[in-house]
Amino acid sequence: MRILGLVASPRRLGNSEILAKEILASLPDEIEKEMIRLTDLAIGPCRACYACLPAGKDCVLEDDLDFLLDRIRAADGVVIVSPCYFLGSHTTVKTIGDRLISVLADQAGFSGKRCVTATVYGIPDWEGYAREAVRNFARFLHLEVVGSMAVQAANPGEAVRPEVLAQAAELAQRLIGAASPREEAAGAILCKGCASSLLQVARSGEVRCVMCGAKGRLSQDGGEISAAFAAEEAGRFSPEGMEEHARRLAQVKEEYLANRGELFKIRKPYENYDWWVKPR
Ligand SMILES: Cc1cc2nc3c(=O)[nH]c(=O)nc-3n(C[C@H](O)[C@H](O)[C@H](O)COP(=O)(O)O)c2cc1C
Repeated sequence: MRILGLVASPRRLGNSEILAKEILASLPDEIEKEMIRLTDLAIGPCRACYACLPAGKDCVLEDDLDFLLDRIRAADGVVIVSPCYFLGSHTTVKTIGDRLISVLADQAGFSGKRCVTATVYGIPDWEGYAREAVRNFARFLHLEVVGSMAVQAANPGEAVRPEVLAQAAELAQRLIGAASPREEAAGAILCKGCASSLLQVARSGEVRCVMCGAKGRLSQDGGEISAAFAAEEAGRFSPEGMEEHARRLAQVKEEYLANRGELFKIRKPYENYDWWVKPR
């Protein structure tokens, strides 16, 4: 068995690296471990060329994405750790995440693999949506997220606290199936489908998970507020949901190819507004 740790912080021996190493070190010795620092990889932004659609075509950009995807395919489980930057994840998580269009319908080699995530934020209550951004990345990689932790630690090394290390060890157990998946986010109501804490609440009491789209309803029993969700599983992140999304994107591309003459006429006049400035 091989577990891959992905670290999205450029900081050497920073909190993310330490947490990833703690989780890996908590695993039995016979498990092979390897780590990749995402900021060491040369992976450029998606160019929105849609050349990777329909499913089955590789991304046309030749960079380190294939290396990363191959290492994930070769692993049996994945640990992803990112610092919180400006309330979201580190930018590599988003940049690489955008490139995952090419594997939206390519679940072989990814699905069925367990993943745990950790996020580190420096300022109390400033964790923003970093947890969700990292979990989203894992889900678009078709991985099964079985647990997450969010740790407040500003300076490198501050994450090394007994309760944090205990949580890291527990996540390691879940990763290899020695402990059951469990999701919690400090008293928050989580989506039943994908365990996201990002829920949009309507005045009517309806809730919609911003991440997986699951719909539910808030209710109050005594002082306690809870949410009942219709579906157990997150439609958007299910294997069928991912395939459906890849098909929809391929259809959008087809529509573009069929209508590009018309669309070109609509776009053309905007060329006249030539206000671009660029660094010399
Ligand atoms: C560019 C930048 C943006 C940051 N934004 C946030 C933030 O929005 N919220 C927060 O709590 N901490 C923020 N931090 C602090 C880091 O999350 C914190 O220092 C963390 O421990 C870094 O993890 P690392 O040691 O693995 O790099 C930011 C740090 C940097 C460098």
